[in-house]
Amino acid sequence: MIHISVIAGARPNFMKVAPILEEVERRPNVKARLIHTGQHYSPEMSATFFEELAIPPADINLDVGSGSHTVQTANLMLRLETEFLQHRPDLVLVVGDVNSTMAATLVAAKLGISVAHVEAGLRSFDRRMPEEVNRLVTDALSDYLFASEPSAVRNLLAEGVPQEKVFLVGNVMIDTLLKFRAKAEQTSVLERLGLKRGAYGVATLHRPSNVDDIERLAALVRMLSALATRLPVVFPVHPRTRDRMQKAQLLSDSLILSPPLGYLEFLRLTSEARLVLTDSGGIQEETTILNVPCLTLRENTERPITIEQGTNRLVGIDPAAALQAALETLEAPPRVAQAPEFWDGRASFRIMDIIEAHAAKPVPKSAEVSIPAGSR
Ligand code: UD1
Repeated sequence: MIHISVIAGARPNFMKVAPILEEVERRPNVKARLIHTGQHYSPEMSATFFEELAIPPADINLDVGSGSHTVQTANLMLRLETEFLQHRPDLVLVVGDVNSTMAATLVAAKLGISVAHVEAGLRSFDRRMPEEVNRLVTDALSDYLFASEPSAVRNLLAEGVPQEKVFLVGNVMIDTLLKFRAKAEQTSVLERLGLKRGAYGVATLHRPSNVDDIERLAALVRMLSALATRLPVVFPVHPRTRDRMQKAQLLSDSLILSPPLGYLEFLRLTSEARLVLTDSGGIQEETTILNVPCLTLRENTERPITIEQGTNRLVGIDPAAALQAALETLEAPPRVAQAPEFWDGRASFRIMDIIEAHAAKPVPKSAEVSIPAGSR
């Protein structure tokens, strides 16, 4: 029996662990223990996803809550160490790039427990992003690196990660999207918000680089309000952003503001949108599969395949340029995306196949791995 502790902490983790846990259920030789770190705790950021995606209740919630990066990471590490010492899993499986991902990896590596990282190798090459630091640390210490796109494989190999640890398996978030797409269609979010199919925009903003500087946030809200003179713009507001908008009195009447939506309603909303403007990582991927134009309000992306093959376009952080790009998108003929390799609903199956196959012959720990010539 292989005992895997699966770590989920923040909203973007829940849709990634859901199909992995479902796949574990199908395998008699694997047992999962789900650890919710409590990094996200508001019902609309956590419990809703468990209900909608039928994720089994967490075996434990570490209730770590919010705090500075150092406070949050330190608290995560203390609680995760106790948890891992008590349960001694064979493998710790982490997803994505949030503080919970990095903290669990550090603790497991120090205890000599193998780590599998799902969504390994993505790089924005911008270390001002907290997630980039989390990705680098997590990948440096992981034993299985499961990549969602070819750029991630190239990044890992360029960093000297031995090839035998790197597996291109596809995208677990797309496993969830494909499974729940039909169910999402049954939600009535468009009717509730008074929207017509294909005739509205969706905006999301939560990156510290966009929302922590009030001037920049105000300029982005003005840009969205200007776009709203052309078509309705729905803006489900993340708690971090809501806090900043309230303090700066930026709650504009020209936008359709809503609290964070659940998974199914948000999927329906994006799948029928004319365009999406976002600084999220996952939404760049979801819009590629939904074939909906996505304008990314950032200067870089760690998910280049969504530009090369998908519907994503980097528009930077200059609000005037972003508005121009949005207006161009409204005029442009639809662009047809090509689904990236293995974004087919079977990524979790591939991951569990690889883990089971290696259980008999473990991946060597880093100390035993030979360093490739030229990278010393
Ligand atoms: C975190 C992740 C980010 C991810 C995002 C998705 C890190 C470093 N960042 O950022 O990668 O894209 O989640 O949401 O891990 N809050 C609530 N309820 C909650 C959680 C947070 O109200 O359930 C509020 C708190 O005021 C908190 C703030 O939101 O201080 C920010 O939360 P935090 O977890 O620190 O980071 P996110 O911005 O959510």
